[in-house]
Amino acid sequence: MRIIRAKDYDDMSRKAAAIIASQVIMKPDCVLGLATGSSPIGTYANLVEGYRKGDLDFSGITTVNLDEYKGLSRDNDQSYFYFMNHHFFGKVNVDPERTFLPDGTETDSDKACREYNRIIENVGGIDLQLLGLGHNGHIGFNEPNTVFEAETHCVDLAPSTVEANKRFFASVDDVPRQAYTMGIKTIMQARKVLVVVSGRDKAAAVKAAFFGSITPQVQGSVLQLHSDVTVVADEEALSEL
Ligand code: GLP
Repeated sequence: MRIIRAKDYDDMSRKAAAIIASQVIMKPDCVLGLATGSSPIGTYANLVEGYRKGDLDFSGITTVNLDEYKGLSRDNDQSYFYFMNHHFFGKVNVDPERTFLPDGTETDSDKACREYNRIIENVGGIDLQLLGLGHNGHIGFNEPNTVFEAETHCVDLAPSTVEANKRFFASVDDVPRQAYTMGIKTIMQARKVLVVVSGRDKAAAVKAAFFGSITPQVQGSVLQLHSDVTVVADEEALSEL
């Protein structure tokens, strides 16, 4: 595991975008695993800037996102589909036919998850998976104590996750209680993993996930077993080390 120290959020975003940019330049038809949340927003902004300047071409890439709320339609402004269009897909030349997220409108969880596993397999697996880190150490929506063997599955969100994500919704009652997420097995099969973490409120999670024991209680800790992980974290996120 490589830990890259960034000064602050902007520096983290520039460094993470540079890593993704080099992946796209080296393999223009790569499969990027993408993430939502506030952590990667700046990374996407830098990639969009690279595209606008003519330095980056996303026309050959395929993307598979980590997760999606169950029950939100694509035009709901809190769906991860909407987020991705707003921050990235709608601003670069990615082929919309080659951007995939779990189908949040599918009420049959088994069907939604089976279908998403099939999509990931059909695109040939993930070259580079981008991740944020939840306060409880979750990655994607893999909440504490999920088995590491899981592929895409439906999760009941932890109360702390509902609480953390309520800032994006009109009220806590509007936050979906379930989501579809890639499992740890899927994430671990990505050829490279890039984690972005920023802020003092993430310092304990960084310490537990990357410097603590490997345990399902802290889902991100499994990344210590992956052979190609880069963590770009800012000084505040590294402040408990
Ligand atoms: C959500 C997402 C995760 C994300 C996490 C942290 O739970 N499903 O993919 O990493 O939040 O979000 P943030 O970056 O906003 O702190």
